[in-house]
Amino acid sequence: MMIEKMISGGFGLGRKDGKIYLVRGAYEGEDVDVEIEKQSKDVVFCRVKNVNAPSPKRRIPVCEHFGSCGGCDWMDLEYETQLEYKKDIFVDQMKHIANVEILPPKIVPTSEYSYRNKVEFVVKDGKIGYFGKNSHNFVEINECHIISNALNEIKNEAKKYDLRYFDHLVLRESNDKKMAVFVSSTAQKIPEIADEIVSLVNNSHVVMAGHQKIITGRGYLEIKVNEITYRIPPKSFFQINYEGAEILSSKVKEYAQTGKKLLDLYCGVGFFTLQVAKNFDRLTGIESSPSSIIEARENAKLNGISNVKFTLSKTSKFNFSNYDVVIADPPRSGIDKETMNAILEIRPERFVYVSCDVATFARDSYKLIQKRYKIKDVMLVDLFPQTHHFEIVSLFERKEVD
Ligand SMILES: C[S@@+](CC[C@H](N)C(=O)[O-])C[C@H]1O[C@@H](n2cnc3c(N)ncnc32)[C@H](O)[C@@H]1O
Repeated sequence: MMIEKMISGGFGLGRKDGKIYLVRGAYEGEDVDVEIEKQSKDVVFCRVKNVNAPSPKRRIPVCEHFGSCGGCDWMDLEYETQLEYKKDIFVDQMKHIANVEILPPKIVPTSEYSYRNKVEFVVKDGKIGYFGKNSHNFVEINECHIISNALNEIKNEAKKYDLRYFDHLVLRESNDKKMAVFVSSTAQKIPEIADEIVSLVNNSHVVMAGHQKIITGRGYLEIKVNEITYRIPPKSFFQINYEGAEILSSKVKEYAQTGKKLLDLYCGVGFFTLQVAKNFDRLTGIESSPSSIIEARENAKLNGISNVKFTLSKTSKFNFSNYDVVIADPPRSGIDKETMNAILEIRPERFVYVSCDVATFARDSYKLIQKRYKIKDVMLVDLFPQTHHFEIVSLFERKEVD
């Protein structure tokens, strides 16, 4: 089967007998044999069984776990080509889902390896690893190439202890400090292997949840991005690529410009809100995670910023008033219907949409364009080298009545 192009989800797309085949591990221009994983009426999901004519853009991956580990699905592809495919996928999704022809945007690369500041390892029978792609096949990891040497060393240190009663080991780092979060379903004796040690006793399927106990340290990491210092507590979201976070926040600042009132939806620990605070009279950040909103308020104080208000709420339950500018950086599921309706109701002059999922971004763009918003500019930032994922940062402007 010939692979025509790369599409959302990182698949190569082929066609046979009137059906679309989405092939994992196949690249544009290749002739491959496939193994079917699941299928519906029109779409067949499969993976590569044999590559008959490989792409010249393939390379030997640096990681011994490539293929079995579910993490870096594009590591066997030249980095330049990864960037090109990400642009192509963006243009393709915008055409097919948002119904808009768009020129390939700029994509800003980041360091190819050692870029992740956070990693969630699975612990199984005392061993540390990851699950395979779309499976619960456990893969023990010797070295992970997209985290730093320092985090790999902490993982190796953890291996010296009896870990049989733990479910996950989460490692995070800032410039100077490392944090280890041990997750178990019952209280355990915790190995002291990093500057910050936290125990989470947790029976849910969400890794970073449950009862938190600080074993060593202050219970947070501190990081400076573009002059703003942030405290990051264990359970809170923070951009996983600091180099990319700096690029992203500069662009958000440029797009937001200046104004009276700004609303930052899905604000986390106040990442974008605090970056743009100087340029607005009043700002409001909305976030549903209690630990993040507490830290967002602390982060405002820490930076001497007093014109921001952080509110704990789901965005769909927030009572919207008028704002000049709205920023939204939702999870992969995108902006829910109620929240999108509320944004369209108040019609901000500028809407800055940051997204890590191209399909939901395109879906939401369609709604914005239908309601007389125009994509003024868009940039991609490669926050996730070696994978098919990327970040989108975009500026939508309100069109006046035609
Ligand atoms: C992609 S993160 C972005 C955080 C922040 N903008 C940043 O750059 O660090 C999405 C955030 O949305 C929060 N969140 C998820 N669903 C939400 C909802 N329905 N309402 C408000 N916040 C939500 C998550 O807790 C998370 O902090």
